Amino acid sequence: MALNMLLALLAMALAASTAGWWKPPKRIQWQWQLSPFNYPADLVKGPDRLDMYDVDVFDNTATTIRNIKSRGVRVMCYFEAGTWPSGKVNNPFLSQYPARCKGKPYEPPYTDELWLDITCPEVLNITRKILDLAVTKGCDGVEPDNVQGFETDSGYNTGFYKCPIKNGVQTGYTTGCDLDYKEWRGFNLFLANEAHARNLSIALKNNFYMAPEMAAVHDMVLSEQCYQYGECANYTSFINAGKPVLLTEYRRSNGWPLKTCRE
Ligand SMILES: *[C@@H]1O[C@H](CO)[C@@H](O)[C@H](O)[C@H]1NC(C)=O
Ligand SMILES: *[C@@H]1O[C@H](CO)[C@@H](O)[C@H](O)[C@H]1NC(C)=O
Ligand SMILES: *[C@@H]1O[C@H](CO)[C@@H](O)[C@H](O)[C@H]1NC(C)=O
Repeated sequence: MALNMLLALLAMALAASTAGWWKPPKRIQWQWQLSPFNYPADLVKGPDRLDMYDVDVFDNTATTIRNIKSRGVRVMCYFEAGTWPSGKVNNPFLSQYPARCKGKPYEPPYTDELWLDITCPEVLNITRKILDLAVTKGCDGVEPDNVQGFETDSGYNTGFYKCPIKNGVQTGYTTGCDLDYKEWRGFNLFLANEAHARNLSIALKNNFYMAPEMAAVHDMVLSEQCYQYGECANYTSFINAGKPVLLTEYRRSNGWPLKTCRE
């Protein structure tokens, strides 16, 4: 009896340690491909074994994602979370975003992608449906993009550009400030909770302001150009938590990213 109970407890402990969403180790090799994935042609060739591919959730079928996973790798699924990208015609929810939840251009003067009011209940509901889709498609996790709209004038309330942030904390909150740090913080926590509730990993994208807090919540970082912008040190909390900080740097005329690799 005592032995039975001990065995049962052991089995439970084992289940607890293996259960749950994918938690990547600190060092992984990965490939990011946001254009539709052509399997198997787009698999990375070479001696290095990859651990993860990051692909678009809308522009790839469940079959493609299953095929990639059949190589023994994890698949993270990208989607625009804080913006409405009019050109993503494979997003089945594109027409469901109410006009009042759409704000200013993400990249003025281009109007093909708009900031969202991430406090709109409709936006939150659609986000839940996108996460359901990620589960249906077999993704191991998600990479929600554009999750730091407090940096810009997203079009909700007026007359304030860039809410003041200091050490990841919003300071000097002003009435009339655009959707601000605490609202985007709430959205990032919402995304993480909803992803984890669906057994999905989640990456913190670019949002280095919140990294110290989100290192306990998100499973990895995906940063664009933290080296170029001097923000890499702001992700130390993730490294300390044993979680990967994945980086992309873009080619520029003055020798980047070769210079980055040398350092
Ligand atoms: C949750 O995800 C992990 C990692 O992908 C997987 O091993 C596990 O079976 C999943 N659990 C459930 C209940 O689907
Ligand atoms: C959001 O989804 C919930 C649950 O399906 C529903 O009850 C609610 O009415 C929805 N809200 C909006 C604004 O669509
Ligand atoms: C980012 O890190 C630098 C030091 O490397 C620090 O001065 C700055 O306040 C940090 N920014 C945020 C938003 O945490």
